[in-house]
Amino acid sequence: MTIKTADLRDMKSDIKQADRAKMAEKLGQALASTYVLYQKTQSVHWNVTGPLFVSVHKLTEGQYEDLAASIDEIAERIRALGAKTPVGLSTYINNSVIDDQVEWGDVEAMLKQLSGDNLAVADQMREFVKVAEEADDVFTADLLTTRIGALEEASWMLSASL
Ligand SMILES: [Fe+2]
Repeated sequence: MTIKTADLRDMKSDIKQADRAKMAEKLGQALASTYVLYQKTQSVHWNVTGPLFVSVHKLTEGQYEDLAASIDEIAERIRALGAKTPVGLSTYINNSVIDDQVEWGDVEAMLKQLSGDNLAVADQMREFVKVAEEADDVFTADLLTTRIGALEEASWMLSASL
């Protein structure tokens, strides 16, 4: 998933064109990871069984709704930077920092896996915040920082449910 400077919308901005291309590429990766995490969170919501069913079912519903909203925010930030968003589920799967396929096992294994996935996406975004700060792209740095907070909170709530 490479974004070329020539593919960007022509616009006047203090963020350099090359930096906008680089940032859009990183946001595309963040979008891919978030998309896969969204689907995995739904998968836990649907497949969880046992005494924790109601609490985990509800917890993951709130989490996937938050992820869905953030998918739209990240994608629209890519557009605001002048680039096109990545297209196609296979593109998302191939560019995600977390694995798409997983053997869920019991509820404990599910929660551990999903908790770790949330942290892995947060860690990826933390790297991208550095890139955004270097590019003076303050809005993207802020957006990703907010997402890191949400993902780390989701990770904590999933692991605290055990
Ligand atoms: Fe549901």
